[in-house]
Amino acid sequence: MPPDDGKDAMKSCGESLVSKRCSHASGPIYKYAASFRTVCMSSNRSLVAKVASTVRILGKTHIGRGSQIHDFVTIYPRVRIGLDTEVFENAVLGRPPRGTRALARAVSPKILPTSIGDFCVISPHATIFTDVRIGDGTLIGDGASVRERARIGKDCIVGHCAAVSYNVRIGNGTKIMDGTYISGNSTVGSGVFIGMLVSTSNDNHMGTEGYSEKVVQGPTIEDDVRIGQGSCILPRIRVGQGSIIGAGAVVTKDVPPYSLAMGMPARVVRSLKEGSKSARKDRYSVPVPPNHACKVGGP
Ligand SMILES: CC(C)(COP(=O)(O)OP(=O)(O)OC[C@H]1O[C@@H](n2cnc3c(N)ncnc32)[C@H](O)[C@@H]1OP(=O)(O)O)[C@@H](O)C(=O)NCCC(=O)NCCS
Repeated sequence: MPPDDGKDAMKSCGESLVSKRCSHASGPIYKYAASFRTVCMSSNRSLVAKVASTVRILGKTHIGRGSQIHDFVTIYPRVRIGLDTEVFENAVLGRPPRGTRALARAVSPKILPTSIGDFCVISPHATIFTDVRIGDGTLIGDGASVRERARIGKDCIVGHCAAVSYNVRIGNGTKIMDGTYISGNSTVGSGVFIGMLVSTSNDNHMGTEGYSEKVVQGPTIEDDVRIGQGSCILPRIRVGQGSIIGAGAVVTKDVPPYSLAMGMPARVVRSLKEGSKSARKDRYSVPVPPNHACKVGGP
């Protein structure tokens, strides 16, 4: 027998109704009160979005149809979550940065819009700062951090405890594996694979010259690059399209497109001709969904 009102439907899934206002993908923005159990119902009583009772929603938030927010998530104001996205326990969304005088870079505590696309997964303990855009189908792993002004494309993976620092641009279909650090002001293209525990850096002066965005610049990693585990990529380095960096390399100079570089310091050991059989053989398989051409740099 169908439930006669929304409350019955929600009891069956262990929730209680706070608002009967209906949420649509492009619908109104809701102001939820912290600590309420909230399930939005559409007019035909189908579940629209499910928010666990322990979720803290600190201001205006939009949660798209079919999305689920699990226990102990904190959502700061101006966060927009797309359709069918799942946010797991203890994740923090839209957090404004908080600096101290020890920080060379000025951070603004201002809360700006943050958006998380459709069909995303935000894993437990991930922290997404304010002024971040995450494209559809992207997975943010357990304990990962995505800092303010970061832009991450569609169908990406940011692995377990990986860190995407401030003002980083990442294209579509890019995979950043566990424990990797992408430094502030870096650019990573589409279809890139970055192995575990890779580190990038953005300041050759190591803080002695203060902070200026002109000086403090991370690497640019062009489309279809693959970087082996444990590599270090130094500030301002450009890794050319389609190149491979061997595991454990220390990349101190630009790497031309379609090159295999390895060692410490990394040296180009051979060229991978664009589109050739050998280049394809050398490539790790990184499925990039169609229509996701978001190029950065390139010759
Ligand atoms: C760089 C790489 C792709 C080269 O593969 P390859 O062309 O098959 O190379 P080979 O294994 O035939 O080795 C060729 C030579 O390079 C050396 N070599 C291989 N990888 C090296 C590396 N990362 N750093 C330094 N030297 C390396 C080998 O010791 C060998 O030297 P030798 O000719 O003196 O014996 C591969 O070794 C690598 O580093 N892969 C990264 C794996 C990874 O990190 N995956 C992450 C996700 S699981």
